Amino acid sequence: MTIHFIGAGPGAPDLITLRGRDLIAASPICLYAGSLVPRALLDHCPPGARIVNSAPMTLDEIIAILAEAHAAGQDVARLHSGDLSVWSAMGEQLRRLKAMDIPYSITPGVPSFAAAAAALGTELTLPGVSQSVVLTRTSGRASAMPPRESLAAFGASGATLAIHLSIHALHQVVAELVPLYGPDCPVAIIWRATWPDERIVRATLATIEEAAKDGPERTALILVGPVLGDGDFAESSLYAPGYDRRFRPASTQSRFVGSEE
Ligand SMILES: C[S@@+](CC[C@H](N)C(=O)[O-])C[C@H]1O[C@@H](n2cnc3c(N)ncnc32)[C@H](O)[C@@H]1O
Repeated sequence: MTIHFIGAGPGAPDLITLRGRDLIAASPICLYAGSLVPRALLDHCPPGARIVNSAPMTLDEIIAILAEAHAAGQDVARLHSGDLSVWSAMGEQLRRLKAMDIPYSITPGVPSFAAAAAALGTELTLPGVSQSVVLTRTSGRASAMPPRESLAAFGASGATLAIHLSIHALHQVVAELVPLYGPDCPVAIIWRATWPDERIVRATLATIEEAAKDGPERTALILVGPVLGDGDFAESSLYAPGYDRRFRPASTQSRFVGSEE
């Protein structure tokens, strides 16, 4: 038996991978993480499956269910929102499972920052504007930020920021970023990207607080950076006619002519 950690995606039930869907369908137990996992995904569970919401549970209680399933030889589909590599609390579960010699697998999911970018219809890295995206957050009750991981430190690079878990701290986010990005820097807030009640507000650092004042204080991403504006940007060299590459040699003299791979 195996505990299958599965990224459930950002909200729309068809944004799970085929592998994730098939693992849910093959597991007699499904443990899903609360309100951010779309209930429609539970329709993939096999008939008679035991389906448990882990939101009100402690880590000990969650591990007890996983250990019980292991002892009974039953697979478990363990669903967390978005992707598992960020803010999923998977790490602490894996540590316990390793200590108990319980096998697990990990199936990635569509992360919310990617869903938010898609909702905006934008690329977060544009040539000559920004080539990095920082996935970050501000301190919360459950997790303090390591001292060197401040918005000021990340903002000093001018990279595109994808700020999670921080809509309640919008005032602080704006105050820390205005000196680095300037008041006219574009900002977008995307609430519940890909859910039926998805909402988007676009503004600047100077105007976002007013623009977002009626928005809910939950499940939102704050994206900040010049890539969100309508300014000009360079084309990447990748598709330029003279760019010599393995899949499109620029001339008969190209080092890639005759290359097998
Ligand atoms: C506990 S974290 C989970 C992150 C998740 N593992 C991921 O890959 O995006 C929850 C935070 O992610 C962001 N988030 C998750 N789903 C979202 C969505 N559909 N739209 C906007 N933000 C979302 C919000 O910042 C929310 O407070």
